[in-house]
Amino acid sequence: MNILMVTSEAAPFAKSGGLADAVSALAGALKRLGHDVRVVLPRYYSVDKSGLEALPGPLGVPMGSGEQWSGVYRGILPGLDVPVYFIEHEAYFGREGLYGSRSESDYSDNPRRFSFFSRAAFQLCRKLGWVPDVFHAHDWPTGLVPVYRRFAEAGTEFSRSATVFTIHNLGYQGVYAKENFPYFGLPWELYHGAGLEYHGALNLLKTGLASADRLSTVSPSYAREIQTPELGQGLDGLLRHRSADLVGILNGVDTDEWNPATDKRLPARYSAADLSGKAQCKTALQKAFGLEERPDVPLIGMVTRLADQKGVGELFGPAHGSAVPICRDMDIQFVVLGSGDAWCEAELRTLSGRLPNFRARIGYSEDLAHLVEAGSDFFLMPSRYEPCGLNQMYSLRYGTLPIVHRTGGLADTVSNYDQDSGSGTGFMFDHLSPRSIYDTVGWAVWAYYNKREHVRGMIRRAMAQEFSWDRSAREYERLYSDALAAIRR
Ligand code: ADP
Ligand code: GLC
Repeated sequence: MNILMVTSEAAPFAKSGGLADAVSALAGALKRLGHDVRVVLPRYYSVDKSGLEALPGPLGVPMGSGEQWSGVYRGILPGLDVPVYFIEHEAYFGREGLYGSRSESDYSDNPRRFSFFSRAAFQLCRKLGWVPDVFHAHDWPTGLVPVYRRFAEAGTEFSRSATVFTIHNLGYQGVYAKENFPYFGLPWELYHGAGLEYHGALNLLKTGLASADRLSTVSPSYAREIQTPELGQGLDGLLRHRSADLVGILNGVDTDEWNPATDKRLPARYSAADLSGKAQCKTALQKAFGLEERPDVPLIGMVTRLADQKGVGELFGPAHGSAVPICRDMDIQFVVLGSGDAWCEAELRTLSGRLPNFRARIGYSEDLAHLVEAGSDFFLMPSRYEPCGLNQMYSLRYGTLPIVHRTGGLADTVSNYDQDSGSGTGFMFDHLSPRSIYDTVGWAVWAYYNKREHVRGMIRRAMAQEFSWDRSAREYERLYSDALAAIRR
């Protein structure tokens, strides 16, 4: 099959979270299955042009009632042999941020930037003389891809191409003022007709959900949860309506990047059979974060965007969060690596100065992320909701037992400790609150000190878990075939 991934992120070129990891790894896995898969990405300033090849000639893209011109560069996903095309447009993408900056968290011209990009995907294929069987779009920035395919490209060479739209996060919908509609170059009847309308505004995610031939999200549990008012973020009705076309396909783990036995970023490597390297990583982690070097204290780690989705309010909220009582009442150490909401960054800095057993590093670092995964005993992920979540899967592979809210992908990948039999791979709670985080961390710490044999068994079980992208890619293959059968019927 010819498959085009239309995406605003792909590792290592442009990444704000797991979307980038997921898209690149999926593209690589589909390539291994023999498909002609290619990726198209905006050329943000942060993408270094020096290793890329410029394609000759400009690319004309219909916008509003006219046309805009851009350039195209070609590169390759490192190690995966997948071509990546970069759409270059100085006014739209010649800036540092992907979606916004420190001063403007969501660029006001995002509807123009991403409608242009979505439309450019089709023009790129024309330029290449390559017709995808499937346009696979991801999250709100590419929500217009199915709309363009269905309406603007209805009678063209793409009329037999199917569209698949994947929700990586329903919490970000791309909602903008209706006044932006004319940039899209679509007739006004599509404002309602293509599901763009949302409480008098434009909703790019919603239009993708309404218009794509098939829908998916990144775990089976999340696929069910988003059809309920509690986690449907206002779109549960539409998702229930499209239920027959929606599947949950669990993400995998990139085992070249995340394997404790071969991980070059670590000071020592290890396996389930010999965990001595993990103990060395723990010492290195304590040193790196300026904590007392104690081999026998339970060390709790976190690597996260500091956003409400991740449960940081319940954990670090200044008046009521559970982090302070956890650090005061329990003989533990706690390290956090993250960046995001300003209040939370400030609070983490304050706590690092106040609590002797708590240290946070504000910023983004792949090396430190690997060290936290390897050197911690437990990995805390109290997400309010979690479409899939990659860090708990990394943790399992690194023998770092996850402490998680039983939601979305966390529920699908972690199994709860049973203190009679010793079974399970982590510690789970059912309702997010400061109290439930406190109690569940306390439970894990209790097991660490009192049920050493159980914990050793859980580590072995966790490290044996397989989260393979090849399995996910086969499920996407089926989804693509379904989508194609539906439109070619
Ligand atoms: P989300 O995409 O919602 O943030 P995921 O768990 O799917 O959550 O993916 C997060 C990805 O981003 C992981 O690869 C994680 O290691 C990485 N990450 C998040 N914050 C940081 C950070 N401060 N430093 C390094 N990596 C980070
Ligand atoms: C989103 C979700 C996360 C998921 C990732 C990759 O960022 O928040 O749960 O793992 O996308 O699909």
